[in-house]
Amino acid sequence: MLDGKHIILGITGGIAAYKSAMLARLLIKAGAEVQVVMTPSAKEFITPVTMSALTGKPVVSEFFTANTGEWHSHVDLGLWADAMVIAPATACTIGKMANGVADNMLVTTYLSAKAPVFVAPAMDLDMMAHPSTTANIDKLRSYGNHIIEPASGELASHLTGKGRMQEPEVIVAELEKFFAESQSLKGKKVLVTAGPTYEKIDPVRFIGNYSTGKMGYAIAEEAAARGAEVTLVSGPVAIKAKHPAITVIDVESAKQMLAECQAAFPHADIAVMCAAVADYAPAEPADRKIKREKQEIPTITLVKNPDIAATLGAQKKPGQILIGFALETDNEMTNALEKLRRKNLDMIALNSLRTPGAGFGTDTNVLTLIKADGSESQLPLMSKRDAAARLLDAISPAK
Ligand code: CTP
Repeated sequence: MLDGKHIILGITGGIAAYKSAMLARLLIKAGAEVQVVMTPSAKEFITPVTMSALTGKPVVSEFFTANTGEWHSHVDLGLWADAMVIAPATACTIGKMANGVADNMLVTTYLSAKAPVFVAPAMDLDMMAHPSTTANIDKLRSYGNHIIEPASGELASHLTGKGRMQEPEVIVAELEKFFAESQSLKGKKVLVTAGPTYEKIDPVRFIGNYSTGKMGYAIAEEAAARGAEVTLVSGPVAIKAKHPAITVIDVESAKQMLAECQAAFPHADIAVMCAAVADYAPAEPADRKIKREKQEIPTITLVKNPDIAATLGAQKKPGQILIGFALETDNEMTNALEKLRRKNLDMIALNSLRTPGAGFGTDTNVLTLIKADGSESQLPLMSKRDAAARLLDAISPAK
C-alpha cells in the first residue's frame, strides 16, 4: 500500500524523536519515498545526518540554505506529498499547527500540504491532558487531520500515563490502512441523502426538524475519501461538503429530494438514506403569508410525504446496496428491523435518541448496524466521521 508513496516525515523536538529513525526505516522498507522535515529543536534530539542517511534525501529544516541562499519550497513539498506524518508531534507544534503559527519549515509545509496529515502526539501526561492541548488536537481533527492517539506508559519524566508516541509499527499500520481504504470505493457511485426537509406552510414558514446533516455529510466525505463519486442530496443545512468528489444537490422538500434521488439511484452502487425526511407536508401551502389578524386560528391539513427509502427499495436492482437510518425513541430494535424489511434495505443504522452523544446536532453518534440477514453490530460512542467509516466498512465487499 505504501509502495511509491511520497511521505513527508515531520519531526519535532521531543524525546520520542529517536523513534522517528525507525519510522523512516519502516516506511522506506514498505516502498515509500520519505522526505524528512525537522523543526530546529528536533535537531537537539536526533541529527539530520541520521535521518538523511536513512532516507537518502537531505533533511529540510530551514527556509534557505545559509551559504547559497537556495530557497526550500514548502509549497512544492506540500504538493509532492501523498501524506504528511508528524511524529513525534509536541504540544508546541500541535499548537502552532492548530493556529497557523508558520514560523518554521515544518508548519509552513503543513499549511501548504494538500495531502492527508497524520499527527502522532508525544508529550508528558499533564501536557497531554491540558485543555489547551486537547482543544488544539480537536482543532486539528476538525481540519480533517488524523490523530494517532498516544499510548499510555512510562514517559520521559519517569511518570506513567498517556503521552507516549505510538510505536513506529502502529503508525505505519495506520498509514497502510488509510491508503487501503482510500481505494476501497474507487469507481463506485454513492448516493447519500442528508439533513432535514422543509415543508412549506406559506412563503415564510415551514415544517422542519432538528437534523443538521452532520451524519450524512460525514458519510459523503468518507465515501469520497475512499475513492467514490458521491451525489449528496441535501436538505437545508449550515454545513458544506469539502471533498471535490462530492456533488451536492440542494433541495428543500421531501418531494424534491425524491425526484433527485430517483434521477441518481439508477446509476448508484450504494445509496445511504440519512436524511430526516418530514413524514407529512401541508396539503395546500398558502402562496401568501398567513396573517395573524382577520384570521381564525388556521388549521393546517397535512398529507403524507413520499417515503424515499421505500421507493428506492422497490426499484433496487441486484447488486445495488441500500442503507437506511432509524431514529427511534422506543422499541428501537423491533422498529428498526421492521423498517429494514418494509423499505427493502440491506442494512439499517439504528440510533436511539435516548443514548447520550447520539442523534441530532452532536459531533458523535452511537450506531447499531443491522443487516438484512439479522446480524447486528453495536458500535461504541465515536465521532460521526468514524461512525461513517465503520458503516462503509460493514458493506464493503471484503467484509
Ligand atoms: N425516510 C425516507 N423518506 C421518508 C421517511 C424516511 O427516505 N419520507 C428514510 C430515512 O432517511 C431513514 C429511514 O427512511 O433512512 C427511516 O426514517 P425514520 O424517520 O426513522 O422512519 P419513518 O419511516 O419516517 O418512520 P417513523 O417516523 O414512523 O419512525
